[in-house]
Amino acid sequence: MEEGITRIGVSLPKNLLEEFDAIIKVRGYSSRSEAIRDAIRGYISEYKWLESEKGEVIGVLVILYDHTIKGVSDALISIQHSFSDIISSDMHLHLREDQCLEVIVVKGNMEEIKNLVDKISATRGVLSHKMITAQKKI
Ligand code: NI
Repeated sequence: MEEGITRIGVSLPKNLLEEFDAIIKVRGYSSRSEAIRDAIRGYISEYKWLESEKGEVIGVLVILYDHTIKGVSDALISIQHSFSDIISSDMHLHLREDQCLEVIVVKGNMEEIKNLVDKISATRGVLSHKMITAQKKI
């Protein structure tokens, strides 16, 4: 084995791996390991980028969730109410039978926005989320 390389075993739901494999095939990865390395690098850089954002920002938080998971809709509404001071707008789309997309416009201090993102991402039933900061407030 190459020096500095650690081999790890990961347990994944079958459908998650199938979806991942389908994407890396389209994107032309030669190996699953290389694709996973890229995915991890992306995850790290996104986290670091979020960490580096400071002060007043305006942005959009996009959430995909499974509304058939008990309590998720109530939990998300409750979280949004407790962060109403930084939420400017909220849009809900009933994507398909089991999935909803929520687009939340946030404006305020990045520290508080990060708290909101952390609470939402930790909510059971939330499938994915993405935070995009649009511009710094002047
Ligand atoms: Ni819905």
